[in-house]
Amino acid sequence: MNPLAGLDAHAQRLAGTSLAAMIKADPARARDFSLRIGSLYANFARQRYDRVALDGLFAIGEHLDLAGAMRRQLDGDIVNPTEGRAALHTALRGQTSSSQAAGDAHTQALAARERMRDLVAALEASDVTDIVSIGIGGSDLGPRLVVDALALTGGRVNGRARPRVHFISNVDGNAAQRVLALLDPARTAAIVISKTFGTQETLLNGGIVRQWLGDDSRLYAVSTNAQRVAEFGIPSERMLPMWDWVGGRYSLWSAVGFPVALALGMDQFEALLAGAAEMDAHASTAPLRQNLAAWHALTAVWNRNALQAATQAVLPYDERLKLLPNYLQQLVMESLGKSVHLDGCDVATDTVPVWWGGAGTDTQHSFFQALHQGSQVVPADFIGVLQADHAHAANHEALLANLLAQTEALANGQGSDDPHHRYAGNRPSTLLLLDALTPNSLGMLLALYEHSVYLQSVLWGINAFDQFGVELGKQVASRLLPALRGEGEADDVVTRELLREFRARR
Ligand code: F6P
Repeated sequence: MNPLAGLDAHAQRLAGTSLAAMIKADPARARDFSLRIGSLYANFARQRYDRVALDGLFAIGEHLDLAGAMRRQLDGDIVNPTEGRAALHTALRGQTSSSQAAGDAHTQALAARERMRDLVAALEASDVTDIVSIGIGGSDLGPRLVVDALALTGGRVNGRARPRVHFISNVDGNAAQRVLALLDPARTAAIVISKTFGTQETLLNGGIVRQWLGDDSRLYAVSTNAQRVAEFGIPSERMLPMWDWVGGRYSLWSAVGFPVALALGMDQFEALLAGAAEMDAHASTAPLRQNLAAWHALTAVWNRNALQAATQAVLPYDERLKLLPNYLQQLVMESLGKSVHLDGCDVATDTVPVWWGGAGTDTQHSFFQALHQGSQVVPADFIGVLQADHAHAANHEALLANLLAQTEALANGQGSDDPHHRYAGNRPSTLLLLDALTPNSLGMLLALYEHSVYLQSVLWGINAFDQFGVELGKQVASRLLPALRGEGEADDVVTRELLREFRARR
């Protein structure tokens, strides 16, 4: 029996009731459907469920023992059975469990953090002005987001500006060329970040940067694979460890955050971890009904399975968070893009929708037309930051007014005799508000999404921690590489024809 089957009855019961009507009938939900955890406030009043449906959702959460699942993850149980692994990213940021596995992981994490502190201090004392971080996916998106969001909060070190951090991920040679063209190899250090140290993009880009630097002494690595790092030519004293018990997309909190520590300083990196640990403590101890991660996860499942929403938007109203949608695309879709249960049987319901988005207010002038009047309803997470970190008060007021206006307009719509000027409304959203954007609050926000993703995987009965779906394309690409170079032929008839075209025009 599908544990989510009961949602259909609630969806049918509410099908003829608009969101505006639900709120009018129960205005107290404006406050009751909200939660505050430290500096993070969440409001679910504009989701398209009523109290009865919400009770039904939380009953499913109790039935599927979300609290127990959270505990098992923090204890270091094998929550990734297809790879026989734990997922102990929480142990990177705090002592969240008394289990042996979590304790051991935390001890290793602290030792690695001390080594990272020493490397950061040495680089801060050197004449290096620029850092190039080379990695892709989970070895890129987290540090890239945090550096982009918070680099200005780093301040100065040793009487001068902190190093500027640049990122190279794409195998497209333009990525390396664009970054390196602006830099002086004599004043640059580089970090090759790869959990496996076997990722094609990262090894090719690492090779480009190593050659460009000319001097291997400013080349660092972060990886689980010491042997491959040594073969690449980076000695162990310039390598920081990773472990199998941290998934790539959950690894920002490990030495993968080395670029963050360089851009912001070690203290700020630790504040990021402390914020995440605050969310870990909340998500693992709060009763389900007051548990923000559970509420967020249940809402995602409601929108996907009860309302059949095919996509989900994430709309940060803060320029500094413009890379959040990119980061969340990997976190959410690589984790939840699965169609089989843990036991290999097909999932009977839809799983992850397509996540997409961008920063407001820019996006209001690009795709918001479709959010307001398009034929598909797109649930959205709006994210706002209440305190400005700049002196342009009028801009900040305008930003917040737009944030409030969009959530209201999408929910309530507006009637008109002219169909072109009619807004259907009834478009659900969650509002997440940070008091200020700091390393601490950003850590909380990212950890919230991590826990929500895991709990969604429990609700769907799927594995959030493997990613076999990305392998096939890599295998085909490596088979086709010789054919592209003119050595041999492709098996597939269409690919063969396309290769003929490639060869004729290159
Ligand atoms: O995209 C697949 C993937 O394995 C991600 O899960 C991972 O974050 C990324 O590639 C990079 O892998 P690595 O850190 O091993 O280079």
